[in-house]
Amino acid sequence: MARNVYVTRVIPQPGIDLLRDNASVEVNESDQPLTADQLREKASLQDALVTLLTDRIDRAVLEAGRGTLKIVANVAVGYDNIDVPAATECGVMVTNTPGVLTETTADFAWALLMATARRIPEGDRFLRAGRYHGWGIMMLLGQDVYERTLGIVGFGRIGQAVAWRAAGFRMHILYYDPVIQADDFAASVGARRVDLDTLLRESDFVSVHTPLTEETHHLIGAEQLSAMKRDAVLVNTSRGPVVDEAALAAALKSGTIAAAGLDVYENEPAVDPGLLECENAVLTPHIASASVATRTRMATMAAENVIAALDGARPPTLLNPETYRG
Ligand code: GLV
Repeated sequence: MARNVYVTRVIPQPGIDLLRDNASVEVNESDQPLTADQLREKASLQDALVTLLTDRIDRAVLEAGRGTLKIVANVAVGYDNIDVPAATECGVMVTNTPGVLTETTADFAWALLMATARRIPEGDRFLRAGRYHGWGIMMLLGQDVYERTLGIVGFGRIGQAVAWRAAGFRMHILYYDPVIQADDFAASVGARRVDLDTLLRESDFVSVHTPLTEETHHLIGAEQLSAMKRDAVLVNTSRGPVVDEAALAAALKSGTIAAAGLDVYENEPAVDPGLLECENAVLTPHIASASVATRTRMATMAAENVIAALDGARPPTLLNPETYRG
């Protein structure tokens, strides 16, 4: 079987090395996302594409790969950038990188929650701007985290890992997930399953951990924000379009909620200009899984999926098993 692999952007070297030990590999060393035309061309020529969330693998790309392309291995747990039903129709396997980034992403969501609640980036800006002229009892007052109520939207692997951390802070934990029930785990951390409205009304912190689908697009919009407490903090490390960004900027400006910590945006890399004006928003550039160890493991996991597909074996994290004819 032919073994030509194209890696659409630079990824950690161990992933490339593993691929090179098993296939002929070309890497887009420019690290600039390919255009739609370039993606279609690569799909028509290659046996495997290793992709990132900046690559839009739509029906046209997959049709171009029909008969040649065997696998698209996304180096991310999220795969909303790939039209999986179209891939299945075209006989192209799709894989992602679940599990290996769970704890790292949960750590980051927690860091963002703490930084936002306790206004750490604002304090840093304040000090560096030379505005710290002496301690004041009213200076930069934030929100307590311990023993407050955390609402987790999406109770999959990452949502549950965030719940573990919350239990350590003796928080009351609510979760909303229309699919996952996780009764035993929920009982072990004292989490209660509620509907979204209850979660929004009762939580001091709301942390979003749901994949982006048609159902979760703008799951948190103006109406949901106005259901939240006025001193509530929203954290989003999932996908930007789950939150209506313009509505959130308006809510932060009007005091509908107290603050937000965001790692993802609706139209990355663009950020709503209204959000950039909000002192009460902590904004990071989609780095929740960005530890050296985790990004390396994501790259090698994608490589393992590609090698399995080229060997005629079932890729370990295959998303569309209908395409595997073992
Ligand atoms: C990052 O956002 C991922 O989906 O892995």
